[in-house]
Amino acid sequence: MYTFGIRARGFRARLLRWYGRHGRALPWRRTRDPYRILVSEVMLQQTQVARVVPAYGRFLRRFPTLRALARAPLGHVLVQWSGLGYPRRARDLHRAARLARGRLPTDVAALDELPGIGTYTAGAVACFSTGAPVAFADTNIRRVLGRVLLGRTATEREAVEIDAALVPRGDAARWHHALMDLGATVCVTRAPRCDACPVFEPCLAKGTDASPATRRQAAFATSDRRVRGAIMRILAERRAATLPTLRNAIADHRVARLVAQLSEEGLLSVRGERIALPGLRRARASRS
Ligand code: ADE
Repeated sequence: MYTFGIRARGFRARLLRWYGRHGRALPWRRTRDPYRILVSEVMLQQTQVARVVPAYGRFLRRFPTLRALARAPLGHVLVQWSGLGYPRRARDLHRAARLARGRLPTDVAALDELPGIGTYTAGAVACFSTGAPVAFADTNIRRVLGRVLLGRTATEREAVEIDAALVPRGDAARWHHALMDLGATVCVTRAPRCDACPVFEPCLAKGTDASPATRRQAAFATSDRRVRGAIMRILAERRAATLPTLRNAIADHRVARLVAQLSEEGLLSVRGERIALPGLRRARASRS
């Protein structure tokens, strides 16, 4: 158990004051509906805020409730997801909606059991939907809490422990939003803007923890992802296609292998020659 005393109290008050003036007014912060919060958190897992904002609005206009999402065929959900990438997230979100049977839990343990929801997402959804002082940490929170109180970026375990000691009982959601925003706009990884930081004074790192560049994904993983994205985009546009059509359109030797991989993952269906997004009613496979 961490006890940080005066340093922590100064930090907390300054951070919350800063958030009042500089916090980002993001659409998912205006709701306490666990479904809407879950949609935002799943989108934000691997996609940047600027791209999530419009996609989030579109997705919720199409699937305004958990029940609406559960009722829809997976293919329709994947069409809406198209452009966000990492479609396994949409598949898991859809599975979670079906498993939840009309009502999402708001406690960490039950959320954690749903597909695609790890410890971080479970904590975030529980905290933002109920206001409960649940401790959790994403990379921004790890960096901010770690730098200020340990002098370096914290591990997830360390950050969660620190967060548990600091999270204000009556203001847990704002606290986490503030940590995320400071980490995203001021206390950034490589070139932190310490001159603009509201918690420079209590910070132990004071700019000494500018981390080296993060490792890039291996080139083959990046281009597999690009080709998978192209396959999913074409299927979202045309509803169905054949392997020759996809090969023609994408011109990459990986197409057949990645169609098989996407099919294994339940992200498309292959029936005879016809390749389509899953759960959509039969339409003729486009050959153009
Ligand atoms: N607000 C709530 N959750 C968020 C997240 N994961 N990233 C950025 N802002 C958020």
